[in-house]
Amino acid sequence: MTDDRVLRLGVLGAANISTNALYAPVASVDRVELVAIAARDRSRAEAHAAEHGIEMVVDDYETLVGLDGIDAVFNPLPISLHHRWTIAALEAGKHVLCEKPFASNADEAAEMVAAGHAADRVLVEAFHWRYHPLADRITELVDAIGGPTAIRSAFTVPIREDDEVRRTYELSGGALMDLGCYPVQWARHVAGREPVDIEATMVPDTTPGRERVDVDTRMRFDFGDGLVAELHTAMTADAPRESYLEVDGPDGTFRVVNPLAPQFGHEVISAIGGETRSEQVAGVTTYHHQMEAFVAAVLDGTPCPTGGEDAIATMRAIDACYTSAGLPIRGL
Ligand SMILES: NC(=O)c1ccc[n+]([C@@H]2O[C@H](COP(=O)([O-])OP(=O)(O)OC[C@H]3O[C@@H](n4cnc5c(N)ncnc54)[C@H](OP(=O)(O)O)[C@@H]3O)[C@@H](O)[C@H]2O)c1
Repeated sequence: MTDDRVLRLGVLGAANISTNALYAPVASVDRVELVAIAARDRSRAEAHAAEHGIEMVVDDYETLVGLDGIDAVFNPLPISLHHRWTIAALEAGKHVLCEKPFASNADEAAEMVAAGHAADRVLVEAFHWRYHPLADRITELVDAIGGPTAIRSAFTVPIREDDEVRRTYELSGGALMDLGCYPVQWARHVAGREPVDIEATMVPDTTPGRERVDVDTRMRFDFGDGLVAELHTAMTADAPRESYLEVDGPDGTFRVVNPLAPQFGHEVISAIGGETRSEQVAGVTTYHHQMEAFVAAVLDGTPCPTGGEDAIATMRAIDACYTSAGLPIRGL
């Protein structure tokens, strides 16, 4: 018997990330259609609709989340708007795939998760890296080295001075929010437990009005039992474009170059039991794997690993970094 159920999606905003995270995977993943879009400026929504074959343009976000013709919403709005519009969509009976980081802070994240439970809807954080087969290979390697004894990780990218979304405190911007959330999640994933102590130092933006936005952040997560993670993120003009994860264990060590988006090139170098190996893990785009998982979660009830308690724990760690560094928790 064939499965003819299809997940009908609507999207909030004509966001840049939708090109990779939504339009491409919807075109390549089975059992999902993108049927509606709303943007603050209707002409931008119409332009995206025309380019990507979206049949319905509606006037505003409120109308989109309330639409009868959709089952789920993709929320790629600035982080400060994740909480409001994710909860609005859940309360309107929609499943939600919400961009990372999940919320402005842990309290917002907890309210979103509670709203998902109350509405009995699927709510997933779009931490796309976690859906590529490379993520499971990392888990295997952690076992192969005898468990982690040290973690080092970074994600740094130069971000344009005029990038409002990443450089505005009121939109919950900051290097840690936009980029650093990945090393935070990689470290928690590898450790398999939550940090017991967090210290962070941050270089704030020097532009007047942006002093609460971190542009270069170093973190030390103590997971107890001698396991420490040293993490770095930066969005300064001279920041190298790189992401990596290095893990040491009693039986070996491994380094992953580009755990973030392996489809754009990656390498796993391991030294275990005297054998050094370089490998690549087969897969398609992280966004394709993520969309497949979201569709399966809604249509088949297959659980997704991102969202829920994991999303709250990531935000709790991020909040602790801002507090340690003397900058305000976002959204407060
Ligand atoms: N998964 C990934 O690889 C990845 C990569 C980049 C970003 N992201 C995440 O995706 C989200 C959006 O990032 P993006 O780069 O796509 O951002 P963006 O295109 O600059 O903005 C996204 C949308 O937010 C709305 N918006 C922009 N500026 C706003 C403002 N000043 N006030 C209110 N709304 C505003 C706009 O909606 P309208 O179109 O309705 O005007 C815009 O389309 C963020 O959560 C980010 O962390 C994820």
